[in-house]
Amino acid sequence: MLKAIGSKTNLSDSDITAYYQLVSDLLNNEVVLKMNEYNHHGRTTCFQHCLNVSYYNYKICRLLSLDERAGARAGLLHDLFLYDWHTYKRGKGERLHGFTHAYTSLSNVKDNFEINKLEEDIIAKHMFPLNLLSFPKYRESFVIVLVDKYCGLAEVIDYQAYKIINICRKMSFLRRKKIIAESN
Ligand SMILES: [Fe+2]
Ligand SMILES: [Fe+2]
Repeated sequence: MLKAIGSKTNLSDSDITAYYQLVSDLLNNEVVLKMNEYNHHGRTTCFQHCLNVSYYNYKICRLLSLDERAGARAGLLHDLFLYDWHTYKRGKGERLHGFTHAYTSLSNVKDNFEINKLEEDIIAKHMFPLNLLSFPKYRESFVIVLVDKYCGLAEVIDYQAYKIINICRKMSFLRRKKIIAESN
């Protein structure tokens, strides 16, 4: 079952989500699925992060009467850089991942899919304002700038909460073990 962070909607249920109709070819594409192999934020894979961004892009673009199809599709492809940025060794003179990956993703997307100018701008500009020179040209590109930051933050918080819950579980297990040992 496919779900975006913070949402209960089953995104792979084509009967209830118009969203699925817009991106089903991408969700089943082997290049897109390759993003499952790379962790992005905490325990969130690149694929899940892109799904999160794609779904909320779609929702907000729809709400604002913008191009929801472009928002959904470019959102799903925006981080198609296909490497583990935590361990990636930069080439000589190559800038940090944060500054380069939008263009790497765009190049991979163009190698594998047909995209229009709006989708291109959404992918290329999603790291604004870190990439100050990549100022968004369309309103849909501003949407991804905000949605990408929101999802990244939610994914980091989700991971920290997961770690805290695990520590609490371990402590409660040890406490129970100690009580049982003392009562014997
Ligand atoms: Fe990104
Ligand atoms: Fe992203």
